[in-house]
Order: sequence, then C-alpha cells, then structure tokens
Amino acid sequence: MDKQTIIQAEADYVLHTYNRPEIVFTHGEGMHLFDTDGNKYLDFTSGIAVTALGHSDPDWVTAVSQQATQLTHISNLFHSAPQAQLAQRLVENSFADKVFFCNSGAEANEAALKFARKVGKTHHDGKINIIAFSGGFHGRTMGSLSATYKAQYREPFAPLVPGFTFLPFNDLAAAQAAIDDDTCAVIVEPIQGEGGVNPATAEFLQGLRAACDTHNALLIFDEVQCGLGRTGTLWGHQQFSVTPDIMTLAKPLAGGLPIGATLVTQAVADVIKPGDHGSTFAAGPLVCAAANVVFDKVNRPTLLQAVQENGAYLKHRLQTLELDEIVEVRGQGLLVGVALNQPAAPIMAAARDKGVLILTAGDNVLRLAPALIVNRAEIDTAVATIAACLEESS
Ligand SMILES: Cc1ncc(COP(=O)(O)O)c(C=O)c1O
Repeated sequence: MDKQTIIQAEADYVLHTYNRPEIVFTHGEGMHLFDTDGNKYLDFTSGIAVTALGHSDPDWVTAVSQQATQLTHISNLFHSAPQAQLAQRLVENSFADKVFFCNSGAEANEAALKFARKVGKTHHDGKINIIAFSGGFHGRTMGSLSATYKAQYREPFAPLVPGFTFLPFNDLAAAQAAIDDDTCAVIVEPIQGEGGVNPATAEFLQGLRAACDTHNALLIFDEVQCGLGRTGTLWGHQQFSVTPDIMTLAKPLAGGLPIGATLVTQAVADVIKPGDHGSTFAAGPLVCAAANVVFDKVNRPTLLQAVQENGAYLKHRLQTLELDEIVEVRGQGLLVGVALNQPAAPIMAAARDKGVLILTAGDNVLRLAPALIVNRAEIDTAVATIAACLEESS
C-alpha cells in the first residue's frame, strides 16, 4: 500500500475518533521514527509516554521474539512464568502486596475503582463516594471517565457512574473539607499528564493521605503516565514521600505492548475474591516477557539518574530560552510541559514539519515525553526546533 492508499483506507474504514497528520510511519529505531517518504523524525512523544526504551530496543526485541516462538497467550485460566516474574518485580519494588493485571490505563483505573468500591461495601457500610480532581485524566471507560475532569469527554456519554465529585487540584483545604466518612476513595495523578503537566504539591498529596487515613478512605495514585521511571524515580509518588493504597500503571510497562496493572495493599487484596474481576488477554506471556525487560532496564540507578539529570537539563534549556511565548516550564524528570501564551497545536505541527515530534496537553501546553534513553544532543535539537517554531509564530 502506498501512503495515500493507506490514509484513504483509514478514512474509509477506521472510525473517526482521531485527527492524524498526513504521515505514515514505517519503522523506528531508538529515538527516531521513519516515514514512507524517507523522512526521519526525532520522537519526543514516545507513543504518549509508552516506548520508554525507545523504538526497537535490542533486548526488548530479543525477549519478545524468543517468547513469541514459545508461548504468546494462554488466558488467565493458567499459570505461566513471565506473569509470575513481572508480578514479583512490581510487588518487591513497591509499596504493594499484590497486583491485578489488565490491558490499558483505563482498565487499570477501572479495576482500582471497583476494588475501592468493594472495600467500601465490605468494611464501611457500603460507602461509594469517590473524589477526583480538576484537570485529572483517568481514561475513557465508563468508570475511569467518571473520574476524568474534562466535560467534553464526559458529557456525550452521560449518565456516567454515580458517586463521583470533582475538587480543585492542589487545593488541600477544599479536599480536607470534602473528604469525610462517606468517602470511599480519592483518585489523583501525582503529576497530571493530559491535564497540562501539572505536578501536585507534596503538601497536597501528604494532606490527602492524612485525610484518607482519618476517614478510612483509600488513596489511589494514577501513575499510568508518570510511573515507572518517567519522573526520575521508579514511581512518581516517591518524589512526594507519600504512599497510596492503590497505584495504577500502564503506558510504559511493556514498552509498547498493551498492559495495565493495579497494585494494591494486602488490606485491599483481602476483599477481592476469585471471579470479582478478570481479563482474557491481560498479562499474557508475550506481554510480560516484554515488561520484564522494560522493568529491569528502567529500574537501574544509572538510568533513573540519567532521567533526573536529562529532565533537569531539558527544563533548564527551555527556561533559559527567554521567549515571550513561554509562560512557564514545569514537570518532573522527562515529563515536561511548556505553557504558552498561545495555542499549542500549531507549534506541535510546525515542529513536526521540522522533524521533531512533540505532544500537547490541553490547549496551551506543549508536552515533551521522550523515551527515557534520550541524550543531551537530542534534547538540544528538540529545544532548538521548538524555539524556532515559537519565534516564527510571533
Ligand atoms: C494518567 C492517565 N491515566 C489513564 C490513562 C488512560 O490510559 P489508556 O489510554 O491506556 O486507557 C491515561 C492516558 O493518557 C493517563 O495519562
């Protein structure tokens, strides 16, 4: 199929839920993607914070290829080594005692919300209320959408799941006033991704923890985007010295294959019984073989240190551009937002035309989420390109 035939076939046959640029990618290598016209792009999107090791990491390719020749899928009716190994890695390297596997971020949050509801039903007179925050994004399924702030995503599908309330993000006083004995759970991203790359304050997250403890509510951290090395620590919440009862993971965990994970404490695990929740595809041998490689390569002090240093370098380079168009540079590690005084989408498009792929987060924020293997020269190229696009836009 040539480029135009592919684009036309997608227009004809794929449901129109995405607006895509007229580029057809053929392959990737490390920090770069290549298209049908022979163009090379520097990828600061990593498939929306997914391909943490870059494209076609050799160890990842070897593990997936070997596993594909051995065993790909058996369903969750049977045991297999890769899933057991991944579960052990996640539990032994986190606050959690058990993990539930699924296939995406939305599903991981869906599971978290269901588990919280069952804790409420089992131990706390059936309390169901869940608190979420302005700017939060938790996915597109009915439960996770009910916790997602943007009205544009929710309203066409109302009525959603009952019992959800939104409070202002980072407003501890409002949260302290609202969290009460009827609160079943509080769900929050330690660093909001889609909502504009907004880090929580440590005071806010620590205050949520205390309020949840006072009122027997569960604290759920959605680390689908900010977890697994992205911020320079293995888990995003380690930046804030707060531990949740439930943490959700997805995007980078299998380096590009679909996976989600809901990590829970023993107290939560104790209320969940066989048959309460499940998934046909979740954490099959192929996906887990990939995830075990990703986990081991990300969970190295040298890599996490590099994420911290390169993230600080990226932020510093952007902050010292001194362009009027840049209102604020924020974020943690290699999840960086550049708030502009103008719409971000045209700048994203202009950067793409110059061979650098970046994301937006909301209307006025550019979002940079390169693979965790990015180097300084690549950061320099991305920053110079963004600066040129902003200068040309004024
Ligand atoms: C913080 C957060 N939670 C949940 C999701 C939903 O993940 P998925 O698209 O895999 O369902 C996303 C996706 O962007 C996210 O950023």
